[in-house]
Amino acid sequence: MKIDIHTHILPKDWSDLKEKYGYGGWIHLDHHLTGCARMMKDDHFFREVESNLWDPGIRMDEFSGFGVDVQVLSTVPIMFSYWAKADDALDLSKLLNDHIAAVIAEFPKRFIGLGTIPLQDSEKAIKELERCINELGLAGVQIGSNVNGMNLDDDSLYSVFEAAAELGAVIFVHPWEMMGENDMKKYWLPWLVGMPAETSRAICSMIFGGIFERLPNLRVAFAHGGGSFPATVGRVQHGFDVRPDLCAVDSTVNPTEYLGKFWVDSLVHEPDTLDFLIKKVGVEKIALGSDYPFPLGELEPGKLIEDSNYSDEIKNKLLFQNALDWLRLDQEKFI
Ligand code: CO
Repeated sequence: MKIDIHTHILPKDWSDLKEKYGYGGWIHLDHHLTGCARMMKDDHFFREVESNLWDPGIRMDEFSGFGVDVQVLSTVPIMFSYWAKADDALDLSKLLNDHIAAVIAEFPKRFIGLGTIPLQDSEKAIKELERCINELGLAGVQIGSNVNGMNLDDDSLYSVFEAAAELGAVIFVHPWEMMGENDMKKYWLPWLVGMPAETSRAICSMIFGGIFERLPNLRVAFAHGGGSFPATVGRVQHGFDVRPDLCAVDSTVNPTEYLGKFWVDSLVHEPDTLDFLIKKVGVEKIALGSDYPFPLGELEPGKLIEDSNYSDEIKNKLLFQNALDWLRLDQEKFI
């Protein structure tokens, strides 16, 4: 069995958000050819996408071809809209969450859903989180690595994490609004340099901010194998040791204590890095994630794991058992 915890989906279409909310900055799909669309931010081209982004049937055909059984669906991070007025971001979140809920309701054995919540307003975010879990049947939410520059240890976000822990909702942290983006527009560096740094920023903020310490039942997974965090955890630990006056102000627990307490996806592209990741976070905490249907993802989901020399027992953990453990779901649900 294979469960892919990192895949993105959008509805095929939605109403004109500029007209609806009265200001620009929103994404729409320009269906310029059959099966192809341009993601547009107002009049600016963002990304070319294909029907596998919005069509569940095409997705299922495609991922079945790679031997994937189940996809965990989340929106495309550019839709987070933390920059917008909270009521409008909530309205858009509802639209996206209702869409994902409809897809999983139609194909409950093939899809699991993660919602999106307007983190610029904790109260609204919690209400929508509750709706996602209690009414829509989603497993949790995907959130960004920062909220308008605010880190995930910010006091205003704690109540959201607390609510997630109480509801048993998983959190998938995906890098977005990358630091330094405007200083490195060339060579796709926001994606190649900014994203791994953003994920480390999110992990360090949650560790140093004591989020994991205060909420030991919170089940968090980070995209892209934890970004640059696993490779720099020695530096982080050393910093904590030599400058506790800077690092240990909110939590006195060693950062390395948290290795093995959160999940990461397997999207690291290289066998050596996957080996290293297993050494760092453990064989129980890595779950297949491909970033389907985007080209920077693993184009044959699970290939890195399947081509490895790991035992079948380890492969099965990475390919689906760890995902089930993170999601607290039983394999029976999908058979
Ligand atoms: Co992604």
